[in-house]
Amino acid sequence: MSWLQLKIDTTKAQAPVLEELLETLGAAAVLMEDSADQPLLEPPPGATPLWDATRVIGIFTVDSEMDAIIEFLEAQLGEQLPAHRVEVLEDKDWVRAWMDHYHPMRFGDRLWVVPSWTPPPQPDAVNLLLDPGLAFGTGTHPTTALCMEWLDSLDLQGKTVIDYGCGSGILAVAALLLGAKEAWCVDNDPQALTATRNNAEHNGVGERVHVFMPDDMPDMQADVIVANILAGPLAMLAPVMAAHSHASTHIALSGIIRPQVDELREVYGEWFDMDGLAIKEDWCRLSGTRRA
Ligand SMILES: C[S@@+](CC[C@H](N)C(=O)[O-])C[C@H]1O[C@@H](n2cnc3c(N)ncnc32)[C@H](O)[C@@H]1O
Repeated sequence: MSWLQLKIDTTKAQAPVLEELLETLGAAAVLMEDSADQPLLEPPPGATPLWDATRVIGIFTVDSEMDAIIEFLEAQLGEQLPAHRVEVLEDKDWVRAWMDHYHPMRFGDRLWVVPSWTPPPQPDAVNLLLDPGLAFGTGTHPTTALCMEWLDSLDLQGKTVIDYGCGSGILAVAALLLGAKEAWCVDNDPQALTATRNNAEHNGVGERVHVFMPDDMPDMQADVIVANILAGPLAMLAPVMAAHSHASTHIALSGIIRPQVDELREVYGEWFDMDGLAIKEDWCRLSGTRRA
């Protein structure tokens, strides 16, 4: 089957507006690329999830009236559409573009992340359904993998969890699928909170996920805290993590490179025994337990 793709070169500010309009117009998919045509599969930790120069691509069935679609977009924007073109996507389902990059991944003993277009390799495993989106966290990055393996190693049955810097919500959803009771998810990017809500609903755990901007996080203490951010923000957030923990709360910090480990261990050492260290490629995960 052939498809038509409308490629619009736009700005970071206008990209979400166009995304929503293209979805309203019945696009089978809306993708984002940077000017170098790199699909936005996984921005590095700490990166802004959209490039300044963003290309928004709406994929439509081949019989779509592209002139009418462009006219509608211009009417909604109240201005001419920025540089754009319509191309045929020959003999190639758009999904294949993702399929080339993204495959089922296993974390620890029980946990898999499975794209929606692939049958789970182990149907009886804990299968988290996740497609690449605009928020960080598909499982392909070592910092995420380190947290997923840590969650898999815990007994989460009936536990409460904080996922601080939730991105796609992958860690919170994994924790819930592994038996946790409820998850509080925090991110300073509203797009991440939307992605987390969507991914939680897609996995049937939407009712047990609560999403917050950092300032709106309620005063609560969780049994488990996982935070994959970066060493700088993690150091600043140490008192916040302490305030959200109780005696025996388990904590894991990821997004840390080796030279930062000792300093971060010392900062968190004021409240936590940070005796766990795991390393994957250039990245480290520090873990520990809150002292009484
Ligand atoms: C590396 S991603 C982690 C995403 C996901 N938890 C994972 O493990 O794949 C870090 C996330 O933390 C968020 N973030 C960065 N600094 C933050 C802060 N000070 N407070 C809350 N969220 C923050 C970013 O917006 C981003 O979504």
